[in-house]
Parts: sequence; structure tokens; C-alpha cells
Amino acid sequence: MKTKNKQKVFYLSCNCYNFLNIYGNYKRLRQRRKGQFFIFFFQFPAADNFFMGTLRILSGMRPTGKLHLGHYTGALENWIHQQNLLAEDGSRVYETCFLIADYHILTTSLETADAYQHTIDMLLDWLAAGVDPEKSPVFRQSQVKEHAELFLLFAMLITSSRLERNPTLKEQVRDLNMDSLTYGHLGYPVLQAADILLYKGNIVPVGEDQIPHVEITREIARKFNFHYPHPETGSVFPEPEPKITKFSRLVGLDGKAKMSKSLGNTILLSDTPEEVLKKVRNAVTDTLKVRRNDPGRPEVCTVFSYHKRFTAREELDSIEAGCRSGALGCVDCKKLCAAAISAELEPLLEKRRYYEDRIELVREILLEGEIKARALASQTMQEVRTAMKLG
Ligand code: TRP
Repeated sequence: MKTKNKQKVFYLSCNCYNFLNIYGNYKRLRQRRKGQFFIFFFQFPAADNFFMGTLRILSGMRPTGKLHLGHYTGALENWIHQQNLLAEDGSRVYETCFLIADYHILTTSLETADAYQHTIDMLLDWLAAGVDPEKSPVFRQSQVKEHAELFLLFAMLITSSRLERNPTLKEQVRDLNMDSLTYGHLGYPVLQAADILLYKGNIVPVGEDQIPHVEITREIARKFNFHYPHPETGSVFPEPEPKITKFSRLVGLDGKAKMSKSLGNTILLSDTPEEVLKKVRNAVTDTLKVRRNDPGRPEVCTVFSYHKRFTAREELDSIEAGCRSGALGCVDCKKLCAAAISAELEPLLEKRRYYEDRIELVREILLEGEIKARALASQTMQEVRTAMKLG
């Protein structure tokens, strides 16, 4: 983490209300804009830690191999936007760290033979989409032992009944037809809380299915801070906020609620224009629009939902009108849609190829990210042990 990005903000500790922390953030950003880096704020020792001038964004994904469009619109695009956001003085608004959740994979599959290759495939997509390792360390959970350590401590701070109520878990059990659940799978959000809080993430950009996990993270942070105030800094952990994108979920090609590798209904970020066209051609449309000239209902059409995200506004209106009147047939509409998607993916394909040809560089990027992550994680664990009076 570059220290020049961490303009320190000094607070005098005098109150413990969260709203003041929020106000503190707001003020700090305003102050930064004016080029003033020192503000004094009153805060209680038990309040959130806002000693860093820059808010930190922490997000992650399970390494399931090549990513699809849903990952892009649901998370990746947002990550990159935040990574590159600059304040008026030219400094970065956020610090960003991106984690590869390879331990989380074990919650649904014990098969690890492909884990490393999947990690590299996913990292290639991250880099292709614009993750910049100079700005954002990228690292594997399994290579930073503090994840396991903090997970253990956090497991004591949440009840199993709270975890059983997690809607994301219920959905997963249903989708994957699971008839039993491991102890580790039930603890999925606890490991995620460790991922986020180890790096003191303030903001967690995720798809909407992850909101319950961020909520559990907040509860754990609150409970830890309450039980174990740090003798000097007050709270060890911030209470992170989730941040979702407008197009957080993309419908699958088969019309199912979301794109997902296990449902086999995805367009990959690494798909060539020909592959995109082939897939979009088979996408489900309005089942009542049988013949070319039948009027269609864009609101129920998978392809139109992609148009809404990938096609320019002016063209979108004429596509919608053409579909409704029957002037535009599905075959032509799909061609336009595939072209719009491929236009957006073209720079990604090019960048992916660059890194594919330099795979050693990709491995190095990962190792360097892990060195940075270890330094941050061990610092947090020291604070945790101090706060817990473990010596
Ligand atoms: N659970 C997230 C997902 O399936 C992945 C993840 C693991 C994550 N650790 C995280 C996301 C920490 C954000 C922050 O998409």
C-alpha cells in the first residue's frame, strides 16, 4: 500500500456514535478536496477506527475459473471504477485490495486439483478488465495464514442459529441440491468477515447475494469492538458497508434468474465475438413472439435485458419500439445485442492476450500482492491480540 495515498487524519477521541463516523468520512473527503489534510474530530475510544485518511475497499471472488459477464456487471466493473477514482487533488479516493477466496471454494467442493489454474484464469480476467496490481494488491486467502486465525476467533462471536438464517446459504443449498451442510460451509460468512476485517475494509463492492454476508461481517465487527476495545485506538475494526451496482445480476442465457457457471448459461469475458454471437443466438426470448413480425415484449426478454446494459441509449429506444411493433425480428435483434456485448469485451480480450503471453508476470503479480497482504494482515492480528489481552 503506498503511504502517499494514506494521508493521515487525526482524531481526538470523544464520542462513540456511528453517525459521527459517517459524518467524519464526509468531512474528510470534503477537506481533502480543499487540499487540507488535517482535521480534528472528537471521538470516543470505542468508535470506529478512522485513523487512515483513505477509505479502503476490500472485495473478493471465489476462483471458479474464467469469469462471465455477470461477474463483470455485478462486481468487477465497480471494483475498477473505485480503484481508478481520483479526488480533485489527484490522489486516489479509495485504497483497493482484491482477494481470491480459494478457501471458500472448499465449502462446495473438496476438489482442489484445478484450484491454482482457476485462480490464474480468474486473475487473467481481473487484469483484462482493468485491475491494476500497482494500485490494488491481489492475493489468495490460502497464502495469508491470518485468515484462518481470525476466522477461528470470529467463530466465537456468532451463533450457529444466526448463520442458519443466512438467505444466501439457503439459496445455495437449494440450487446445488445439497442434502447436508459442513460446519465450514455454515461458517462461510465468518471466513468472509475475516477476509474483510483483516484488511479493515470500509467498503465492500459485491453482488446483491453477498449483502447478508456483509451484514454478518458488521455484526461480528461490532461484537468484537464491544468486547475487546483496543487500549490505544478504541475499535480495532470498522463496520464495512456493502456497495452494489445497478446491474448487479445479469439474467442467464436460458432466462434463469442469474448467470452462473454451474447452470451453464453464461457469456464469458474471454469469449470471442463469434462465441458471443453463437451464445446470444440461442438465448431465450419472449416465447409469445413466434414469427418475425409478431409484436414482442421486451420486458420479459433475456436479450433485451442485455441490450439495456450494453446498447447505447438512442439505439435502445429504437430496438424496444421495433420489438413491440414487430418490425424487428429476434434474429436481427440478437445480432445487434451480440455486437454490443463484443464491442465492450474487445479491449478486455486484447489485454487478456497480453497477460496470457506473459504468464510468469501474472504469477509474480500474485506473489507480490501476497507479500503486501501479509504485512497488513499481521498488523491487524497484532492489534487483535493486544485488544484481547492475549499478549
Ligand atoms: N463470497 C464472495 C462471493 O462468493 C467471495 C468473497 C470471499 C468475498 N471473501 C470476500 C467478497 C470478501 C467480498 C469480500 O462472491
